[in-house]
Amino acid sequence: MKELSEAIAYIRSRTDLRPKTAVVLGSGLGHLATKLNNKVVIDCSKVPHYPVPQVEGHAGQLIFGELPPSRSGRASPILAFVGRPHYYESGEIDRVTFPVQLAAGLGVKNMILTNAAGGVSRWLSPGDLMLITGQINLMLTSSKSPSELRTPTRVYDPSLLSLARGVAQREGLTLKEGVYCAVAGPSYETAAEIQMIWRLGGDAVGMSTVHEAMTARRLGMRVLGISLITNLATGLTSEPMSHEDVIRVARTARKKFEKLLTRILLFMSW
Ligand code: HPA
Repeated sequence: MKELSEAIAYIRSRTDLRPKTAVVLGSGLGHLATKLNNKVVIDCSKVPHYPVPQVEGHAGQLIFGELPPSRSGRASPILAFVGRPHYYESGEIDRVTFPVQLAAGLGVKNMILTNAAGGVSRWLSPGDLMLITGQINLMLTSSKSPSELRTPTRVYDPSLLSLARGVAQREGLTLKEGVYCAVAGPSYETAAEIQMIWRLGGDAVGMSTVHEAMTARRLGMRVLGISLITNLATGLTSEPMSHEDVIRVARTARKKFEKLLTRILLFMSW
């Protein structure tokens, strides 16, 4: 695809780093990228054909950098996407998956997808971290590209799931697990829709991740997904919900989230 080649060529002209691992940082979760050393920050708007994210809390940057050297003594190159294009902005899946396609074109093999999500399961509370074990695509749309017709049975990589569980245990962090259900948005769900999602098997609800995960798998990457539960889903509390609350809880739970993610990234690059 010409668009992708032009985007890759632009990025190659800006950095020599060749990360094997990329992370998409969801709503209010971009701070982790500021911790990288030797950063090269690329504004999405400068990358040819890149769909610039529009939502508040999604700055829209690609940050190449290195995590501080791990115990192995090696610095680990990472590509962080701060912010992501959402389906409700354009209604086009190719725009949503552009960052993942770009990462694959740049040689990335491991994709970590993070998001802010509403807790549907009664075992989830605001501030919880949830490892995504499976997904339900309630956007009811999928990519048409013929090369992507084969659907992987397991979207989320079993070895990365084990790695994340092990890291959380070692660091004394509580890591819940569940199925992520994506809706198209942009408005939040009704109470009746949340009941439906629960009956269908969804533990958390959000407006991203499912297409990115599927595309990453189909492009041969290993995928890990982590949700930060920022609110109880509609109908589970009398409080009205807002995007500001999502950003506020994301900021509060940031330390825990960053600790987990940094350790996972370090282990992945050993
Ligand atoms: N619903 C959909 N998307 C979300 C939510 C929610 O409750 N919280 C954060 N993103």
